Amino acid sequence: MTTTADDLREEVRRRYAESALAVTEGSAGCGCGSGACCGEEHADPASFGEALYDAEQRGELPDAAVLASLGCGNPVAVAELREGETVLDLGSGGGIDVILSAKRVGPTGTAYGLDMTDEMLALAVQNAHDAGVTNARFLKGVIEAIPLPAGSVDVVISNCVINLSTDKPGVLTEIARVLKPGGRLGVSDIVAEDRLSSDERAERGSYVGCVAGALSRGEYLAGLEAAGFEDASVEFTHEVADGMHGAIVRAVKTSDPAGKGLPVIQPAAKAGCC
Ligand SMILES: C[S@@+](CC[C@H](N)C(=O)[O-])C[C@H]1O[C@@H](n2cnc3c(N)ncnc32)[C@H](O)[C@@H]1O
Repeated sequence: MTTTADDLREEVRRRYAESALAVTEGSAGCGCGSGACCGEEHADPASFGEALYDAEQRGELPDAAVLASLGCGNPVAVAELREGETVLDLGSGGGIDVILSAKRVGPTGTAYGLDMTDEMLALAVQNAHDAGVTNARFLKGVIEAIPLPAGSVDVVISNCVINLSTDKPGVLTEIARVLKPGGRLGVSDIVAEDRLSSDERAERGSYVGCVAGALSRGEYLAGLEAAGFEDASVEFTHEVADGMHGAIVRAVKTSDPAGKGLPVIQPAAKAGCC
């Protein structure tokens, strides 16, 4: 039987719903060893989740937000958030990066979290409440069709989610749409070395485990350029399997999308028109 994109997305949703419920019910969360979630198949717990946050950051968070952490990096640490900014976290899970972002942008800013899994959204709302942040908002939806207006966000972050998408060009296009011109992207993700084929990536881990669906560095950079980003970089931070890395992906939405420095030619005004 062929696995369709819808089947894969449903499998991802179901596995992360189970993980959220495990945290809510006080059991082991995603570290229970069935290969169900991001990072579970990997022996080194230092590569995923709460270990990637320093003690000071963990101290800012409710226990359940730390326990629910399933990322492969720490995007807030690289995003250089400023007071008053609007931040969007794609695939916000239990809310760890939304809460940290909300504290950094302050009461004049807003931190949005977007997730497709009801159980994760419920956990995130509770965690944000327990953390005492009032400028966090959680949205239900998919990262391939972001439910926010064009040009409404200063910074997009994400932690180990884009690899789970079945339409990565669609996600990058959506990020470019919602960012303001000059807006920043600061994402943690699993990224493959260019030498690995798709089959070789799948040999190293499952799709729901955040490995099989990873883009290569070259694919990421080409995708970002095609979506209208500039100054893109992919920096490997830690190896999670042979040729597969936790990585920081950065880019800036071009502030001159029409012509990359060329003058924009306006249509001639009609005679008699305003
Ligand atoms: C690996 S977890 C990461 C959660 C969080 N970013 C963190 O660092 O703990 C992936 C999260 O992304 C969500 N997700 C996966 N694919 C998605 C999609 N296409 N649209 C929206 N959310 C998605 C899942 O529901 C889950 O909460």
